[in-house]
Amino acid sequence: MLRSILKKLKSALKVCGILISNFPRLIRLAPKILTSGGHLSINVTYVKYEALLNDKRIIVTGGGSGIGLAIAQKALDLGAVVLITGRNFHKLEKVANTISNPNLRILAWDVSETEKLSSHLTEAKDILGGEVDILVNNAGVLSKGLFPNVKEEDWEQVYDINSKGLFFLTQEICRIWLKQNTSTSSVKKVINISSQGGYVGATYPYRMTKWDIAGLTQGLGISLAPKNIIVNGIAPGIISTEMQKKFLKQRDNSYCDLNPQNRIASPEEIAELAAFLLSDASNFIVGQTIICDGGFSLK
Ligand SMILES: NC(=O)c1ccc[n+]([C@@H]2O[C@H](COP(=O)([O-])OP(=O)(O)OC[C@H]3O[C@@H](n4cnc5c(N)ncnc54)[C@H](OP(=O)(O)O)[C@@H]3O)[C@@H](O)[C@H]2O)c1
Repeated sequence: MLRSILKKLKSALKVCGILISNFPRLIRLAPKILTSGGHLSINVTYVKYEALLNDKRIIVTGGGSGIGLAIAQKALDLGAVVLITGRNFHKLEKVANTISNPNLRILAWDVSETEKLSSHLTEAKDILGGEVDILVNNAGVLSKGLFPNVKEEDWEQVYDINSKGLFFLTQEICRIWLKQNTSTSSVKKVINISSQGGYVGATYPYRMTKWDIAGLTQGLGISLAPKNIIVNGIAPGIISTEMQKKFLKQRDNSYCDLNPQNRIASPEEIAELAAFLLSDASNFIVGQTIICDGGFSLK
């Protein structure tokens, strides 16, 4: 009995000792803790650019060509392990053989097939060697008809890929992250590829989906930031990719009279911006879609 009282007294004295020795520090910090809710430190102050994405596991949907492939290549250069997806496996295989980087992984995955989502995510985890840290929602297709001649099946196909596919994939991955109870040392990120078309009037499905994406980026940006999941987006202008090939009259130069710079851009220009958004250098940017369109949407 006496022994247990002495033991309790001893530990109480120890606690008092700790409090007394830290008293000046506690007094000094008290006003800050009371006024700032206890947030006294910032995670990122300095970023080493050559190792910007070291050990990050990234999924780039539609990463087998164009903008997605340029983002994947940039992320590989910066130290990430990258899984590129798309509907055409042979296209992905060809890219993997050409790039020949062991950190590049491939998976045939149609984002519109939401019923296969959880099995694809399990496969992705195995292929990446762990849970994904960053999702780049890049897969997208153009619509065929223009208003007033849009066909319902065209509307559905474009929405299934560009909007519904993106939404449910993002939701599923965020659900996993939310269960993991992410800490400040492991910020998770989503980058959504919208379009300059998401910032001007929309009368056909492609542009409408790109408005959807910009809105979702804002909404998720606000709601997920407190959980250390940072959602941002990019709205590219006209970029020299497969998607634009048939619209670009000139094959051999970059002239384009639709924006004040009078030119199209390369996928690599979007990848540079993406690298910044994927990295911790941009951790205070939340819910923004950065427009990279040579000034097109300013008119
Ligand atoms: N190029 C531009 O001027 C421009 C401008 C603004 C925004 N964007 C956007 O940038 C993104 C990339 O386009 P891009 O220009 O790089 O054209 P792209 O080379 O045609 O790339 C689109 C990629 O998406 C993949 N994809 C299409 N449907 C898919 C699906 N259901 N599931 C999975 N992957 C799918 C395609 O691969 P598979 O065919 O093998 O599936 C392809 O690799 C798109 O979201 C596009 O809307 C492009």
